[in-house]
Amino acid sequence: MSHPFPYDPFQAEAIACIDQGLSVLVAAPTGAGKTAIAEYAIERAIAAGQSVVYTAPIKALSNQKYRDFYARYGDRIGILTGDVTLNATAPILIMTTEIYRNSLLEADRRFASCAWIIFDEVHYLDDRERGTVWEEAIVLTPPAVKLLALSATISNAEQVAAWLREVHGRQIRVIRESHRPVPLKVAFQCQGQILQSPEALKSQGYLGRELWRSPDRHRRHRQWLENRPNRVDRLIHHLREAGRLPCLYFAFGRRRVEGLAEELAAVNFLTDEEQRQLLGRFDALCERFRLGSDRTAWALRDLVKHGVAYHHAGMLPTLKEVVEQLFTSRLIKAIVTTETFALGVNMPARSVVLDTLRKRMEGRFATIRAREFTQMAGRAGRRGMDEAGFVYIRVNPLEVGFPEVVQVVHGKPEPVISRLNTTYATLLNLYRHHGQRLFDIYNRTLHWYQSSTYHRKQAQGLMQRKLDLLRSMAYLTETGLTPKGVFAAGLYGYELTLGELHAAGILNHLHAEDLAILLCALVYEPRRGMPPPKKLPRAVGQLTHRCDAVIRAIQRAEFKASLPPTKPPHFQLAPAVEAWMRGVAFETLGDLCGADDGELVRAFRMVVQLLRQLATLNGLSPALRGTVHRARAAINRDVVDAEQELRLTLT
Ligand SMILES: Nc1ncnc2c1ncn2[C@@H]1O[C@H](COP(=O)(O)OP(=O)(O)OP(=O)(O)O)[C@@H](O)[C@H]1O
Ligand SMILES: [Mg+2]
Repeated sequence: MSHPFPYDPFQAEAIACIDQGLSVLVAAPTGAGKTAIAEYAIERAIAAGQSVVYTAPIKALSNQKYRDFYARYGDRIGILTGDVTLNATAPILIMTTEIYRNSLLEADRRFASCAWIIFDEVHYLDDRERGTVWEEAIVLTPPAVKLLALSATISNAEQVAAWLREVHGRQIRVIRESHRPVPLKVAFQCQGQILQSPEALKSQGYLGRELWRSPDRHRRHRQWLENRPNRVDRLIHHLREAGRLPCLYFAFGRRRVEGLAEELAAVNFLTDEEQRQLLGRFDALCERFRLGSDRTAWALRDLVKHGVAYHHAGMLPTLKEVVEQLFTSRLIKAIVTTETFALGVNMPARSVVLDTLRKRMEGRFATIRAREFTQMAGRAGRRGMDEAGFVYIRVNPLEVGFPEVVQVVHGKPEPVISRLNTTYATLLNLYRHHGQRLFDIYNRTLHWYQSSTYHRKQAQGLMQRKLDLLRSMAYLTETGLTPKGVFAAGLYGYELTLGELHAAGILNHLHAEDLAILLCALVYEPRRGMPPPKKLPRAVGQLTHRCDAVIRAIQRAEFKASLPPTKPPHFQLAPAVEAWMRGVAFETLGDLCGADDGELVRAFRMVVQLLRQLATLNGLSPALRGTVHRARAAINRDVVDAEQELRLTLT
């Protein structure tokens, strides 16, 4: 393989295992070069006329990999995510883990002859919401397929590997590298000062104390300890003077991200020549991605002028792409971003700043985990360009205790633990192919492997209660799935709600617009503080009542069975969906519903995904099939069309 560099020892070791046909789990720091190992496996398989699946946890990452690999392998590469299908029969397939798992659940034989399945960022096994998808995908991967699992932060790699060995009955080697190619230097901003070590943080930041909050909720300390503010401008001047730009500034929350970027842009980081170049690049990219009339792009231009940009999920995907490309071109000096930028996308900087160690998790503020810190901090230090990477953590002693800071920064990342949580759709598919023997499959999960007998029983009980509920609602019988069950089994997410709505005949009589409005209400999760919908389009009023009734019935059954409740619908975006489907310009939608561009695109794309799934089902009436088709054509246009977007970004 034509790499411009010699392999590092851990890469060479992994490659030797690949040559021997062994499965491999690689645990090596961010930016160490795990991709080169994946590429080796891919090249080798291709040379031998075999196929490979590469899965990634986020679409930005699968898209980036598709573009990289496309540049190298051209037609031999395809991509299958929920909203993009390009060259689906290619020997190298990039997939989201969800789509790969779904194909396995449908007993798709396509992958049985694969040489390798690559799981990038495999610590996603431990993701509260999505981890179950990785676990199911691994358990269902055919035994003949070799596994290549990659992660930067997996402290219990041996345990996970032992499980993989058992599930797949084949040898697996753990390759562990702890050395970072570019070392990290961690400093703190506290009490308005830049402190270079934990000791300095304790003595000058925490004034010798460990905690400023007493654990017994006594607030007395607060009253007499003076906490001086950490000024952003001071920090950025420090970075500039120390020659530590460009920096990636991580903050939590979109408003905070934008506000910080504006604050930073009060300084112009660019020479006239740099400014001319950067704006030229920005304008050309905006034109290429047809962002001429996007308001956020205009607002961003004022910051870019000074060498600053921001990046978060509320932006149009194409605008995020523009920012990423500018950043890669090294002209941007500071980019303020949310956490997702930290994941796997190869976009390092000289310095990383963490706005805070506290973030909102499941409705309350908590200190980030060592794994999250490692992922973000790991972006500091560009290989071949920087002698070290610099990490600055802004610490407010009133929010976080000193021992916690030390734990986050120097502690071992948390072990990967099972988050198994099989959905109704998964159970329906398993039941369809295995009947009651599906419990044997549970015995092969990481959950079973890691749990006590008591917790295993609990997990089995939960699965059994879900199956009983499905039986009582006529999705399955002793002998297999009912037509209703087959319908729901083809939908991954919202399967019960749509199953019931379909069975009640409600879907059959909808117009394309109303179907899209309904699906959008199912997928949409309003952000905190979002007001309820103001004026709903006419037919929607009725629809909301029928939908509510159906979901309440499901929730009652779930409550009785001690199962978590199905998600309620949220109709906030209905006016925007309706307007969009009638052909209005995207720019006008935000005012109709108060949602960000990125939020709208994401919700609409999820609707497209559901419509795509519906279109593959056999049990649809011709009328409903037509409606699904029309709805998809009307919603999947312009910025919502993910395939078109990906094509635009192919160079
Ligand atoms: N042996 C090597 N010598 C020099 N540079 C290398 C070597 N291996 C990889 N690189 C470069 O290091 C950079 C980071 O590599 P890569 O994206 O594979 O990191 P990673 O291990 O996947 O990190 P992450 O955990 O963030 O996904 C790339 O630019 C790559 O070209
Ligand atoms: Mg990687």
